[in-house]
Amino acid sequence: MSNTSEIDLTAVSKDIRKSGCEVLVIGTGQSPDGPVLLDNPLTGKSARALADTLSSLAVTGAADEVRRFPGLPETGADVLVLAGTGRSGSGQPLTEETLRRTAGAVARQLSNVESVAFALPAPTVDQAAAVAEGILLGSYTYTEHYSTVGGKAPRPSTRSLRRATILTPAAQDRRLKPALERARTIAHGVNATRTLVNQPPSHLYPESFAQFAREHVKGLPVKVTVLDEKKLEKDGYGGILGVGKGSSRPPRLVKLEYSPAKAKINLAFVGKGITFDSGGLSLKPGAGMQTMKLDMAGAAVVLAAVAAVAKLGLPVSVSGWLCLAENMPSGTAQRPSDVLTTFGGRTVEVLNTDAEGRLVMADALAAASAEGPDAIIDIATLTGAQMVALGKRMSGVMGDDGVRDAVKAAADRVGEQFWPMPLPEELRPSLDSTVADIANVGEKFGGMMTAAVFLREFVGDADGAKIPWAHLDIAGPAFNEGGAYGYTPKGATGVGVRTLLAYVEDVAERVDRHSN
Ligand code: BES
Ligand code: MN
Ligand code: ZN
Repeated sequence: MSNTSEIDLTAVSKDIRKSGCEVLVIGTGQSPDGPVLLDNPLTGKSARALADTLSSLAVTGAADEVRRFPGLPETGADVLVLAGTGRSGSGQPLTEETLRRTAGAVARQLSNVESVAFALPAPTVDQAAAVAEGILLGSYTYTEHYSTVGGKAPRPSTRSLRRATILTPAAQDRRLKPALERARTIAHGVNATRTLVNQPPSHLYPESFAQFAREHVKGLPVKVTVLDEKKLEKDGYGGILGVGKGSSRPPRLVKLEYSPAKAKINLAFVGKGITFDSGGLSLKPGAGMQTMKLDMAGAAVVLAAVAAVAKLGLPVSVSGWLCLAENMPSGTAQRPSDVLTTFGGRTVEVLNTDAEGRLVMADALAAASAEGPDAIIDIATLTGAQMVALGKRMSGVMGDDGVRDAVKAAADRVGEQFWPMPLPEELRPSLDSTVADIANVGEKFGGMMTAAVFLREFVGDADGAKIPWAHLDIAGPAFNEGGAYGYTPKGATGVGVRTLLAYVEDVAERVDRHSN
């Protein structure tokens, strides 16, 4: 597990000297006239002197810039850090996401420091909580598999920040304590997701994932049911079984249930959990396989989100479905042109075994539908086409207008990037099969939407109407193959956890407003 939960986080309203931190962080920005210092606790005289030398110090104020200088004696800190926010306009308060990214970039780059005081301009409770979230997310590292053979220390630093003090007038506000608790819960969930996704497939497979799920919700009011291959066979989960049958490690379906007594709304989350996607007999080329341990990110997000909802005690029932299988080629693997019978009886012709995500999701969408929830949201690293359409940092959201727009609004509120995409009717005939109800591949242009149109077929009715549903494709954003930035490390990002949690918070708030 990540070590960020060990960071001791406090907020103080004034006198940074008392915090006794080694490092004091203040913010910089970019104005049309060059770099500027943002609001800070320095005395007028030192602030002016520092502001005048920014250009000569080659400080630009750009995002991700973290520069260290000797501390000013008046601050009591040995080191002064100038952290760029990239913010260009002046006068406007920083957005929560800018604060999160700035604090994250600092925490990430100061891993060799014990204690840091953050004096970024964060006067409100929400802004201070955003700084806290950035710190906890930015200090994440995954170092489980480095050895110490030869007496050498593990290659990257396994150390991380121990103590962070946030300087904010909101320290006096009663609402700060629950806001910091929420930040801790969120960071714990996002970092647990990152760790699951970073886990190599040698160590993470359906059975060990199911075990991790049990441990992750231990002590929370979440019921865990694990369906093994025999039970999956008995209950007719042909999609999950078909995908899993090429592997020596059998598939699992994990069902998580959080149902507080007071709940009036019942939601279902479904996550794609392919612990490794080789493509199966429709084998991927070597290069395309390299990152395919990421293919269980959706299931990891669902696990973390359900746990976070339970931890925060939100008054909404949520069930989580983790579709766990390893997609491998072998003598027992499914073949292109095989026909599967998915949960509930619909048949699928498997024309391409590399379009496996939609097969496991079909089972769980149908099973979740049978319980008649008020809405279903699924999340998956489903298509390479997602990256063609929206790039590596912007996830796609598709589905019924209401849920789709609510997901987009929730994502915007917490600083995750999702963009709505349509479900063009004309794509459906491309999925027609000559031998089964539907084929698992269709039109390749707009392939992210084709996949969503396929999934839609497995969302059921409740009370004679289609269950409101949205599909989130996080293929690119789930895993950062580029350099670290803001609070986002290289490798697994944990994207989606914050959006699902925010969606549930928004649902809870709407229910609350209607009943008052
Ligand atoms: N897991 C992949 C999608 C993916 C690709 C995620 C790259 C992250 C990065 C998925 O199972 C897949 O292989 N999809 C195919 C579908 C195609 C065969 C219709 C794809 O996108 O090529
Ligand atoms: Mn695939
Ligand atoms: Zn896949």
